[in-house]
Amino acid sequence: MSSAAELSSSADIPGHPAVPGDTAEVRSVASPAEQADESAGQSAERPTGIPEATVARLPVYLRALYTLGERGVGTVASEELAAAAGVNSAKLRKDLSYLGSYGIRGVGYDVDYLVYQVSRALGLTQNWPVVIVGAGNLGRALANYGGFLTRGFRIAAVLDSDHAMVGREVGSVIVGHVSDLEAIVASHAIAIGVIAVPAGAAQAVCDRLVGAGVTSILNFAPLVLTVPEGVDVRKVDLSIELQILAFHAQRRSAERFGQVAGPAAAEA
Ligand code: NAI
Repeated sequence: MSSAAELSSSADIPGHPAVPGDTAEVRSVASPAEQADESAGQSAERPTGIPEATVARLPVYLRALYTLGERGVGTVASEELAAAAGVNSAKLRKDLSYLGSYGIRGVGYDVDYLVYQVSRALGLTQNWPVVIVGAGNLGRALANYGGFLTRGFRIAAVLDSDHAMVGREVGSVIVGHVSDLEAIVASHAIAIGVIAVPAGAAQAVCDRLVGAGVTSILNFAPLVLTVPEGVDVRKVDLSIELQILAFHAQRRSAERFGQVAGPAAAEA
């Protein structure tokens, strides 16, 4: 067993071209696309030949493209798409070149086709069945969110250990008992598991998911999971994001009122 390289976001310098090894300590709040730079690592490459940092930005481009598509935009210039995604346009063009997408000079990118290309690169042209373990406040909120389906994910099952929860309708599924986890993962060919149980139960749930064949885990529980090689774990922690925002809010406030608030204000 090895400790998973759990990926969480941190900031980059908006508008600043990617510089490998650039690790400025105090930074502005970055867009999700730019935060992806560090969480994914600048030099790591996927077996597909697409760098990990590019892979991490593709969902951000996809979200921007969906928004443009919903507004009826048919073609988009790289500058416009880059601005919508919060990256600089050179980085965007470089990222899209890995997909074989170069746009047409003076016209830009065809929005629908680019949605297809990015979706294909991310493996979203099929609907991925997902199991959510933990049907508490968070698990139910996730299961009730209708947006996953249009983004390539289908909530195939929601499981809980509490018999009082089992049998309740959540989103489009009925909550099952966690004792059926292995059977449900096998019957739905589930590759992605979402952990929404208390921290104390999360590692055991993770072990069972992995044992059942799940290779991608989205962990909301506040602990670092240990998984074997070949299993990807993404950790979501809203409190860390809020703490980063609090840091920047404090710095801005200190600048505005001329107060010194620690090393950040001293450097500013
Ligand atoms: P909750 O207490 O409402 O729900 C937890 C559910 O997990 C309960 O229904 C419980 O019966 C079930 N459960 C417990 N042990 C289980 C097991 N072994 N197998 C299957 N189900 C089991 O908690 P809530 O608010 O939904 O939070 C869930 C987790 O998500 C917690 O670890 C919490 O700290 C975390 N969380 C993380 C956030 C983030 O930003 N990362 C935000 C909110 C919550």
